[in-house]
Amino acid sequence: MSRVWNFSAGPAAMPQAVLERAQREMLDWRGSGSSVMEQSHRGKRFIAMAAQAETDLRALMGIPASHAVLFLQGGATQHFAQIPMNLAGPDDRADYVVTGHWGEKAVREAAPYVRVQIAASSGADKFRSLPPREGWTLDPSAAYVHYTPNETIGGVEFPDVPEVGDVPLVADMSSNILSAPIDVARFGVIYAGAQKNIGPSGLVVMIIRRDLLDRPRRPIASVLRYAEQAAHDSMLNTPNTWGWYMAGLTFQWLREQGGLTAMAERNRAKSELLYRAIDQSGGFYTNPVQPLARSRMNVPFWLRDSALDALFLEESEAAGLFALKGHKAVGGMRASLYNAVPLEAVEALVSFMWDFAHRHG
Ligand SMILES: Cc1ncc(COP(=O)(O)O)c(C=O)c1O
Repeated sequence: MSRVWNFSAGPAAMPQAVLERAQREMLDWRGSGSSVMEQSHRGKRFIAMAAQAETDLRALMGIPASHAVLFLQGGATQHFAQIPMNLAGPDDRADYVVTGHWGEKAVREAAPYVRVQIAASSGADKFRSLPPREGWTLDPSAAYVHYTPNETIGGVEFPDVPEVGDVPLVADMSSNILSAPIDVARFGVIYAGAQKNIGPSGLVVMIIRRDLLDRPRRPIASVLRYAEQAAHDSMLNTPNTWGWYMAGLTFQWLREQGGLTAMAERNRAKSELLYRAIDQSGGFYTNPVQPLARSRMNVPFWLRDSALDALFLEESEAAGLFALKGHKAVGGMRASLYNAVPLEAVEALVSFMWDFAHRHG
């Protein structure tokens, strides 16, 4: 069977070269006579691989020495709660900027552990835009400001990093990490579930300013404490060895592709092509997100006649275009264009969309 063009929102497409390399190394990793999954995380080979993955990520993102890199578990969802556990005391306040489903969920999960304040929200606009920065009510004594740079379901992305003064900025970058260069020094915490732009699920990559590790304001289990994980190189207990290895292969692949500047250019070209097809379809397809807030990673779109949705999905799948069904909360379609999705896939999608609109418009 040949591979399909995979537009899944996550777990998502991975670079074919990475999958092929993992396949080659599956039975005999680095001359060890066993797979990476069958070896101790305390072994020399694994420790060297883990360190190389961090080195490659640091080089890709330009992560300064002021920030630690952690390879954790629990998914981004667990860290919605674990972040306030680590960064705030029960009487502290934290500001949340909410621009969609995941920001709302981050608020709900944080609420038992910190006094959540909604500093800004685009909920009144059904999360189709970004709340203008001048309207945010930021508390200078908040423990941190949390936001979601890319909302995976609504397809809303911040075009740049918001200025929040001296309060540490915490970003759930699950669906746009590694998609373009960013200035890591501007963040207190960046965290991301791996299953979109990094590798398989079950791994969370966190980049955390080291001074934030010294905020032991409440007793929590050592495995949940970022400072403990940092002190033990993320191996306080058995890590997700397979996920870490696959992430490392992806980081190497990204470096070979020209790094994040090259990825940014490709991601811009892919998303522009798709948005142009939507906007020039004469209303057959629509995307209601404010143009400046449109995501380069997740492009939701709706057919004018939703009675055609099932046929669109059936025919697109038959054409080798996979996982275009929109999230159940919003319906319609969604194409996720992460790093591993090539321009060729988007060209195939756009050409299918033109043809479908021509036949049914
Ligand atoms: C922006 C964002 N945050 C959080 C999550 C939840 O991640 P996880 O399933 O790893 O908990 C997702 C989607 O999976 C997401 O897209």
